[in-house]
Amino acid sequence: MLWSGLAVSLILNLVTNNRAVEGLEPGAYDYTKYHTMDEILEWMKMMQNNYSDVVTSITYGKTYEKRNISLLKIGQKSNEPKKMIWMDCGIHAREWIAPAFCQHFVKEILGSYKTDQKIGEMLKRLDFYVTPVLNMDGYVYSWKDNTTRLWRKTRSPGTADCMCNGTDLNRNFYANWGMVGISRNCCSEIYNGHSPLSEPEAMAVTDFLSTNRDNILCFLTIHSYGQLILLPYGHPNISAPNEVELMKVGLAAAEAIKAVHGVAYTVGTPPNVLYPNSGSSRDFARLIGIPFSFTFELRDKGEYGFKLPEDQIQPTCEEAYQGALSIITYVLDKNFPRGAATNVAATLWSVVFAVWLSTAIV
Ligand code: ARG
Ligand code: ZN
Repeated sequence: MLWSGLAVSLILNLVTNNRAVEGLEPGAYDYTKYHTMDEILEWMKMMQNNYSDVVTSITYGKTYEKRNISLLKIGQKSNEPKKMIWMDCGIHAREWIAPAFCQHFVKEILGSYKTDQKIGEMLKRLDFYVTPVLNMDGYVYSWKDNTTRLWRKTRSPGTADCMCNGTDLNRNFYANWGMVGISRNCCSEIYNGHSPLSEPEAMAVTDFLSTNRDNILCFLTIHSYGQLILLPYGHPNISAPNEVELMKVGLAAAEAIKAVHGVAYTVGTPPNVLYPNSGSSRDFARLIGIPFSFTFELRDKGEYGFKLPEDQIQPTCEEAYQGALSIITYVLDKNFPRGAATNVAATLWSVVFAVWLSTAIV
């Protein structure tokens, strides 16, 4: 008895360990650590395998160094075209907490859509398009060694008269390109590229957004650091037509964030709460008509900056998750008003009841 019991548990142990080694076990991935590009790509495969009923992968471009840029599409299958939510992380290479957040977000919605009614409704009505690492070349370079850890830009070469590598992807989009908060010096951290969309990564996102702009309800792009929720536009003289509503939605998200671990996020346009800029993906998304477009600047406020310690990954992601959910819930309710459908039914029934009552009295 004892021996057979031991044998059974030993075999079980071997089986589960084996699964973990193959990366097929959902719990096997360590979300409290930063991961290399290769590990993140393996993780993407794992999510597709483990949740094949709701997760597919789409490759929508190539980086300068010819890596495939892929996203995870997450949602219930449907015959009708669905509305879309965009999320990208890692447009700036050194902001390692951002890709960690995209992975946390995907893990959370996949782990809860069957039991949590609100997340279930989201996956029924919406498809999430999540790019865990957009600036893949830069991200790989930031993992190379201590001297490259703080790399921000892409890895494309400069021009004949400028020898430095890299363009700031978040200055390269065709939205007030080259106007404020940029540099034309290719050695600068905020070099905007020799022309708009000179970077294949920015081109890939632009193509995807332009093709799908009528269906994308919400655009979230994740950065660090600063504890900010930024709304369009980065140019001080231009404002979004729905700026008041964006501000309201942003403030509600900041409240949701604060409720988790008490951490304060500031909400506003870049010129008001950070610095003016132009050519960002957030501004481009709003410019082509995507109504809700936000940049998250995750923890912290400069103590560790881009080198946020791993013990802050979990709490940072937990709170930002609630912030993102707050925005997505607002967008979902606005576009699929469940209350309204119930109200129509209620009105109909009260009319029927009133008619019956009047005939009954007569
Ligand atoms: N992720 C930011 C950017 O896109 C950097 C913000 C860090 N600087 C700061 N002062 N908080 O430029
Ligand atoms: Zn950034």
